[in-house]
Amino acid sequence: MCGIVGYLGKKNSKEILLSGLKELEYRGYDSAGIAVLQNDKFDSFKAIGKLINLEEKTKEFVTQGFSIGIGHTRWATHGKPTELNAHPHVGSESYVVHNGIIENYAELKKELIADGVTFLSQTDTEVIVHQFEKNLKTSTSAFEAFKKTISEIQGAYATLLVTKSEKETIFFAKNGSPMLVGINDENEKYFASSDTPLIGKCTDVNYFEDGDYGYVTPDELTIFTNEDVKKEPLFTKLSTNKLSAQKDGYRFFMEKEIYEQSSVIADTLLGRLCDDEVLFDELDDALLEGINEIKLCACGTSYHSALTASYLFERYAKIKTTIEVASEFRYRQPIMTKDTLFVVISQSGETADTLETLKMAKAAGLKTLVICNVDNSSMVRLADACVLTRAGVEKGVASTKAFATQVTVFWMMSLYLAKRNNALSSQDIVSQIKLLREIPKSVKVDDEMHERIKRLSKRYLHGHGFFFIGRDVFYPLALEGALKLKEISYLHAEGYPSGEMKHGPIALADPELFTIALLPQHLLYEKAKSNVEELSARDSTICAISSVNFDKADDFIPIKKCSHYMLEFFEMMVVLQVFSLEISIRLGNDVDMPRNLAKSVTVE
Ligand code: G6P
Repeated sequence: MCGIVGYLGKKNSKEILLSGLKELEYRGYDSAGIAVLQNDKFDSFKAIGKLINLEEKTKEFVTQGFSIGIGHTRWATHGKPTELNAHPHVGSESYVVHNGIIENYAELKKELIADGVTFLSQTDTEVIVHQFEKNLKTSTSAFEAFKKTISEIQGAYATLLVTKSEKETIFFAKNGSPMLVGINDENEKYFASSDTPLIGKCTDVNYFEDGDYGYVTPDELTIFTNEDVKKEPLFTKLSTNKLSAQKDGYRFFMEKEIYEQSSVIADTLLGRLCDDEVLFDELDDALLEGINEIKLCACGTSYHSALTASYLFERYAKIKTTIEVASEFRYRQPIMTKDTLFVVISQSGETADTLETLKMAKAAGLKTLVICNVDNSSMVRLADACVLTRAGVEKGVASTKAFATQVTVFWMMSLYLAKRNNALSSQDIVSQIKLLREIPKSVKVDDEMHERIKRLSKRYLHGHGFFFIGRDVFYPLALEGALKLKEISYLHAEGYPSGEMKHGPIALADPELFTIALLPQHLLYEKAKSNVEELSARDSTICAISSVNFDKADDFIPIKKCSHYMLEFFEMMVVLQVFSLEISIRLGNDVDMPRNLAKSVTVE
C-alpha cells in the first residue's frame, strides 16, 4: 500500500523525505517520488523500483534553509508502475501525493479534460491537483480552493498538497487511509502514513481522524472536521521504539495483520463491484475464450485458498476446476490441455515450486493467470494475466490477511465467471454481490470473542493432537486452521473433511484428542453435526465454532449470525487465526518468525 511523508522546516528536507520513505518500505511499493519547494522553486524527482533509484536521481539535488516537501511510495492500483504514474503529481504550480482511491475520479477527470486540462498519468490521484488549481482560480485563498477540492472528491484518501501560491504551507486531508502529523520544539512539521518515519524527529504526534483536513505553516497546525468545525489537535507522545511502532501497538505482526483484514479486504473489493456485476479488467476475452477447465496450483496457505476456489468455481460458475499442490505437479508429468486456464496462487509471487509450474504451463502453451499479493514479483511478470489481492505487505510468516484476500478474490471471480457462463441468475449474482460487501464487517475482530479465545486457549496447550474438521469450503478452512496452529504453536494438528473421520482417524478419539469443529448454519449443518456427535460419543474433547449453540461440545466459540455460509467462513477464519495466535503466545513462541519456516520459499 502507498506511503506518504511530508516535511516543513529548515533542515535537509531531501534527506528527511527519503529516510521517511525508507521507513515506509514495509508497506510495499513499486515506485517513489518527492517534490520540494524552496526559494520559490519546485524540484521533483520520481523513479520506478526501489528507493535506491530515487536516491540515485536526487544525488545532485541539495536542500538548504527553509523548504516544504512531500514524498510518496506508490503501490500501483490505477495505472501501471511507471514513472509518469508515480507521485507526486503536478499541476501548473502545485504538487500532490495521495494514498487511497478516488472513486469519482473518472467523472472529475472528464470535466477537467473538457476544461482543457492535460493529464500526464493514468492515476486517480492526478485529479486532485488539477481540481485544486481549477478551484484556485475562483477562490479567495489556496486553503479555500483546497477545502472545496476535498468536498468534491469521494473515496478513501490521505493526501498532502503543496502549491507555489502558499510557499510556507502544506495542506492535508484524511479519510479512510492513515496519516499523522508530528511536531517538535523547532517549529518543524512532519507528516507520514505511520509513526515510524517520525521516531527520533518529533516529540508529539496527532493521528488524523476520518474527515480531518487543514494546513500547517511554521507556526500553525490547523485542523477542521468533516463538518468544517475547527478542532484542537490531540497530541500523544511518540514511542521511541521503531519495531513496536510498526506494530501499531499489537503484540505481533500476525495479530496486527489479523486486525487489518477488514480494511485490506475493503481494498480488495474496491472498484471491482457494481450492483449487478463483478468487474475484473484483468480478465479479458483473450484470456478466457475457449477455456473449458481451470487448474489451480499453489503451496501452503495459498493452496487452501485454491481448494476453496474449486468449490465456488464449480458451484457458481459451473466450470470444471481441479487443484494441484505445486511440488507434486512439477514431477508427475501431468497432462496439460490448451483449453485449461492455468492459475497459480501465491502471496509472494516467488515460491519456487509454484513458479516452476507456471513455467511448465507456459511451455505447454496454456493460458496463465496469477493471483498474487506482490506486484512485479516473478510470477506476476511471467503470467499472461494477474489479479492483485491488495493485502499490503504481510510480515508474519503465518499467512492471515493474504489468505483472506485470496478467498475474497476467488469468491468475486466465481461470480464473474458465473455471469460469463450464464451459470447463475442475475438475481443470485446481485444478492451475492451484496454479501461480498459484508466481508469487511464479518472479519472485524470482536473484542469479546478475542477475550474468550484468550481465556480458552489455556486448555489447549497439551494433548496428543488436534483435528480441525469441516465440510465443503469448511474443509479447506479446517486445513488452514490446522496449518496456522502447527506453524506457530508446533502442536500436531490435522485438517480433515468431517465425513472422513470415521474412515480411520476416529480410532484416535479420546479426551486428549482435541477436535475443532466448524459447524456453519447455512451449509450441511446437520451432516457436519452428526460427524461431531460421533466424535463426542467417543470422548474426544470438542471445541465447536458456530452461530448455533451445540450442546455436545466441551467448548463453544460463537460467531455472529450470518445470512450466507461464505460470511460464516470469514467469521470462522478469524476465530481460527486468533485461536492459533493465543495458543502460540501462551507457549512463549515467536509468533512472527516460527522456527524452521520462511516467508518466501524460493528454493525447491
Ligand atoms: C511458505 C510460507 C507459507 C506460504 C507458502 C506459500 O511455506 O511459510 O505461509 O503459504 O510458502 O507461499 P506463497 O507466497 O506462494 O503464497
